[in-house]
Amino acid sequence: MPDPVLSAIHGRRSVGRVSADPVDREVVEELLDAAVAAPNHKETAPWRFVVLAGDARGIVGEAHAQAVARMRPDLTPEGRAKEAALLDRAPVVIACCLIPGVDPVRAREDRDAVAAAVQNLLLAAHARRLGAIWRTGTMTDEPEVREALGLEPRDALVGLVYLGHLPDGVDSSPSPRRGSDPFTEWRGW
Ligand SMILES: Cc1cc2nc3c(=O)[nH]c(=O)nc-3n(C[C@H](O)[C@H](O)[C@H](O)COP(=O)(O)O)c2cc1C
Repeated sequence: MPDPVLSAIHGRRSVGRVSADPVDREVVEELLDAAVAAPNHKETAPWRFVVLAGDARGIVGEAHAQAVARMRPDLTPEGRAKEAALLDRAPVVIACCLIPGVDPVRAREDRDAVAAAVQNLLLAAHARRLGAIWRTGTMTDEPEVREALGLEPRDALVGLVYLGHLPDGVDSSPSPRRGSDPFTEWRGW
């Protein structure tokens, strides 16, 4: 019998191209509430979300462009403008951040919890028929971007979730995945 949870898990896919139409704030709040429903050892709530829309995306994009220009002095003005506009690829970009515990074990578990929260966020977006993709890349480590997001030295940017409405005609059906068998060892069965 089809199960809605399993259908959502198997039906979700990353969608990088979304429409520029705004997403209602209430909908984003609903997705974030789903994110923080993720399992979290000791209930440390290690997640922080910075929800960027409108010009706020450009401020972080500009910080990224500054970082790229610092690392690549040969960057052309066109190239710089392209880097600065990266966050404009979706109307909403959610910076999913980690505030880790001091204890190394706790810090590791905290990062795992934030990753689980991001997956919840992606699944909730899928449930609401929105397109979403988890992006990382060099941007997540750039000091300029970290500062623009208000991260403290021990904090981490686990990912940027780009979110928007599905444009007409975009195929959002999942690509086939291998089952779990190649990755699984059964013992004592
Ligand atoms: C930690 C992490 C980082 C990712 N970073 C990027 C990224 O920088 N750019 C990108 O296009 N996709 C990124 N993705 C999305 C993956 O490419 C995507 O999940 C993968 O291609 C599988 O596709 P699916 O999500 O449709 O199943 C990332 C996914 C994860 C889990």
